[in-house]
Amino acid sequence: MRRKLAAGNWKMNGTSASLDELTALMATHPDPQVDILICPPATLVTSAVVTAADHALQIGGQDCHRNESGAHTGDISAAMLRDAGASYVLTGHSERRTDHNESDEEIRNKTKAAHAAGLIAVVCIGETLKEREAANTLDIIAGQLAGSLPDVLTAENTVIAYEPVWAIGTGKVPTTNQIGEVHDYIRSRLEQRYGAGVGTSIRILYGGSVKASNAAEIFAVSNVDGALVGGASLKASDFSPIVTALQNA
Ligand code: PGA
Repeated sequence: MRRKLAAGNWKMNGTSASLDELTALMATHPDPQVDILICPPATLVTSAVVTAADHALQIGGQDCHRNESGAHTGDISAAMLRDAGASYVLTGHSERRTDHNESDEEIRNKTKAAHAAGLIAVVCIGETLKEREAANTLDIIAGQLAGSLPDVLTAENTVIAYEPVWAIGTGKVPTTNQIGEVHDYIRSRLEQRYGAGVGTSIRILYGGSVKASNAAEIFAVSNVDGALVGGASLKASDFSPIVTALQNA
């Protein structure tokens, strides 16, 4: 049984006042039956960890450098995130792939760094609209999986997030058939590469315009083990019903 995961990615949003949203979220889910993760901006990781100290809610980073330390102004290492109390980090989010030209190889190195630091990596993959319209989705997914994942990983230290680029922040969501097709495909690739034990146990999240009104139908799709949520994770009142839908799935 894969433990379900409701993950929120605050992106470049949030100041210390936003910690109230964490407090409200925890109050609504005092004893969650699913894993809950919030990835605030780096400036809030430490204070978010302190805020969530007495709750199962986990805190993660949104990115990490491939190196443990060194002359990389403005970057943060996985070891630093771990030291700050984070337990997860996103790697390969499409906004990083686009804004910072991150390649699959770079993402693989970041994922390895996350593992070395004891973090769970949420490795993000997904096709653009152009790639989907050209019927290339599964090839793109296969290539990103092959390139972004290290050869050695475990089901405990790795989560996959399938996020079609065209669905992120747009309000457009693939059909449940489209989501199911990609998630089943990801599952089969993982089983092929890592064996049935590990490949079957890695959690696969869907991300892209998940909100309270569509969460339940997305969570009913095969091989959807939770969600990576952007916009609807900023407010506890938006994210909480998604957590509830996942618990009920
Ligand atoms: P969205 O973002 O929920 O705002 O579409 C998802 C993501 O980028 O992780």
